[in-house]
Amino acid sequence: MTRVSNLKGALAGAFGAAAEAYHSAADVQREVASRLARRIAALTLAPRPRVLEIGCGTGFLYQALAPDLKDASWLLTDLSEAMVRRARSGPAGNPTGNKARFTVMDGERPPFAPGSFDLICASLVFQWFEDLPGTLSKLTDLLAPGGALAFTTLTAESFPEWREAHHELGARAAVRGYPTVRELARMIPKSAYVDLEAEAVARSYRNAHAFLAHWKEIGTHVPDAGRAPLTPGTMRKLLRKFDHGITVTYHVAYGTTIKA
Ligand SMILES: C[S@@+](CC[C@H](N)C(=O)[O-])C[C@H]1O[C@@H](n2cnc3c(N)ncnc32)[C@H](O)[C@@H]1O
Repeated sequence: MTRVSNLKGALAGAFGAAAEAYHSAADVQREVASRLARRIAALTLAPRPRVLEIGCGTGFLYQALAPDLKDASWLLTDLSEAMVRRARSGPAGNPTGNKARFTVMDGERPPFAPGSFDLICASLVFQWFEDLPGTLSKLTDLLAPGGALAFTTLTAESFPEWREAHHELGARAAVRGYPTVRELARMIPKSAYVDLEAEAVARSYRNAHAFLAHWKEIGTHVPDAGRAPLTPGTMRKLLRKFDHGITVTYHVAYGTTIKA
């Protein structure tokens, strides 16, 4: 098995196990998806747009956006079969009765012909990709001229409190290496107009146990490959630093690209 498939297997397993709890517990993801939906609703899309959603999870983005895109035909996809099942049958359901299909798909390997979609969207998914520049180029190819790729993803500035606490103990936090906004901008194919903005979203937990339990509950705890686990002693010291509470900050990039 390759390292790529190990990561994808771990992600599908972690998000699959979280599929039931995710919809009520993933508050940051819900908030970010609803802000992305408002940005997409302000775009001028083709009439009856063909929409591909990547990494749909339990359906936050679809639920927030479908009422604004009543004539769209949707294809919702996710790496995790359990997430796809939850999106299809859960509260996201089909809020407008529009044409929606659901399928399991690795967003880095979309099997479609060029020009197949008018909108491709993904909220808080790209941070898990192995080859983001290559995938952005593939996804742009799938857009019809004038089509939009709209996404949110985490940036390198995310979780400074957690990283710093590890650093002070001579350890490395088990979070992936995210790109800076500037690096993201450089990854987007030259054939597209780009709009990129970032915002900070902070959440507080009563201690580090509660923070880690939250990440596990929603499936986002898959560690960066190659990072050695903390020793029990370092883990104890790390947890003790946050006995009286922890605030973690997500830095979220909102990107829209329009294909020329
Ligand atoms: C943090 S959740 C976000 C879910 C949803 N977009 C939302 O806003 O709630 C990340 C989702 O991306 C999916 N995912 C991770 N890697 C993926 C990949 N390579 N292709 C498709 N989906 C992927 C996970 O299974 C999970 O459902």
